[in-house]
Amino acid sequence: MTATQPTSHPSTPGLTPAAGQDGGEDSIDRLIREESERFLARQPRSAELIERSRRHLAGGATSNWQIADPQAVWMSHGAGSRIFDVDGTEYSDFHGGYGVSLAGHAHPAIVRAVTERVGRGTHFAQPTEDSIVVAEELARRWGLPQWRFGNSGTESTMDAVHLMRVATGRDRLLKVEGCYHGHHDSVQVSVAPEEGEMGPADAPTSAPAGSGVPQAMVDLVTIVPFNDLAAVDRALAAHPGSVAGMILEPLMMNAGVIHPQPGYLAGLKELLHAHGALLTFDEVKTGLTVGPGGVTRAQGVTPDIVCIAKAIGGGVSTAAIGGTEELMALIADGTYEQVGTFNGNPLAMAATRAMLTEVMTDAAYAHIERLASAMRAGIEEIIERHDLPWHVVTAGAKGCIAFRSEAIRNYRDFLDVDERLGQAHWLVQHNGGVFLPPWGKIEQWLISVQHNDEDVERFVTNVDRLARAVRAA
Ligand SMILES: Cc1ncc(COP(=O)(O)O)c(C=O)c1O
Repeated sequence: MTATQPTSHPSTPGLTPAAGQDGGEDSIDRLIREESERFLARQPRSAELIERSRRHLAGGATSNWQIADPQAVWMSHGAGSRIFDVDGTEYSDFHGGYGVSLAGHAHPAIVRAVTERVGRGTHFAQPTEDSIVVAEELARRWGLPQWRFGNSGTESTMDAVHLMRVATGRDRLLKVEGCYHGHHDSVQVSVAPEEGEMGPADAPTSAPAGSGVPQAMVDLVTIVPFNDLAAVDRALAAHPGSVAGMILEPLMMNAGVIHPQPGYLAGLKELLHAHGALLTFDEVKTGLTVGPGGVTRAQGVTPDIVCIAKAIGGGVSTAAIGGTEELMALIADGTYEQVGTFNGNPLAMAATRAMLTEVMTDAAYAHIERLASAMRAGIEEIIERHDLPWHVVTAGAKGCIAFRSEAIRNYRDFLDVDERLGQAHWLVQHNGGVFLPPWGKIEQWLISVQHNDEDVERFVTNVDRLARAVRAA
């Protein structure tokens, strides 16, 4: 047992490596074992801090998602595309703090904006002019006229759900199996259901995600598979006049990367509106990372509500919710109280303004696109050379290796992927100087505006090592 007990990412079933098919150790098991040993040997200072922290810091980390298997990595600092752990190791950062660090670390524009703001006070619980510029810029990019701010993705999807309920006077939600929308009760349903609790593929069972979620809340959520308009049609017909709306990641990013099929998003909007229900896109992860106006702009389908968080704040916690005039009027007139002490925090607004107006320019997107293409081509060449049943899926700055040959359309397809490969990939990258999100199978890489060819080369070289090790007898 290591210094910390591994715990599952809340949005995935346990990641404990399964044994090889015959029950003995195969090349993947061996790779995980050997790489885990190297990982631990490299990080004695992290182990020390974990031991010390456990006295007063529950579980030895500040979020359960920071607790990785075989142990949490404690960090020192970041600069550009690189981050440094407390043991002095430098990594190319493709983790990006779960998709936040699109600007890279200590980007000069963010440093300047935050530094200027710090010297003039960071909190008043009153609006500052930066919030107008941010709202204007979000309206331009996402095509929704009215905005409000919060601090986390969880808050933004909570406000979206409340607003859909207030606007329609209905309680029921439709939610996609395998989508994660934060940790409030209304959406903690069928996030990563186990095989035994999923129910039939065409009418999934609503399963509570984790503990602490009242059954009464679970019962208000009807689950549908991603990319399946007929299932939404059936769900709406089964609950006439009681569905407030549907929330989904328009491009799924908590099960690798799963693109919407052509016509799916437009079809959803049409179906929901025909039943007097609303549509919310959770763009917390996709937001600025897939393109300048998220999936909304890329797909040309504007929902009733959009939720954004993570990358927009340039590394400072910020979230936003955008909506139609009609819906947001319910906030403006106080019918729905969208509130929070830190909403529109001046420090966050200064960083977000710099992110939107100075960092995420057309040139920045072109740079990311060039690196993403090089990364994709490099990995695809390796997959082909080693004749492996894998493929690469990308969306702007994000991407992943899907460790199976067939395309993944929804959460149940995704379950087919051997989770040991995600874990092995994470360990090999980490020991090879590349930081990826620890929950290998479900997460993605993030290419920041400060990444360069050397970072991509490092990543691709590590994939080659993974491929050779997996192919080894
Ligand atoms: C799609 C999506 N929505 C919402 C959230 C919740 O965001 P936060 O962790 O900032 O509360 C996440 C977090 O990973 C997410 O991936």
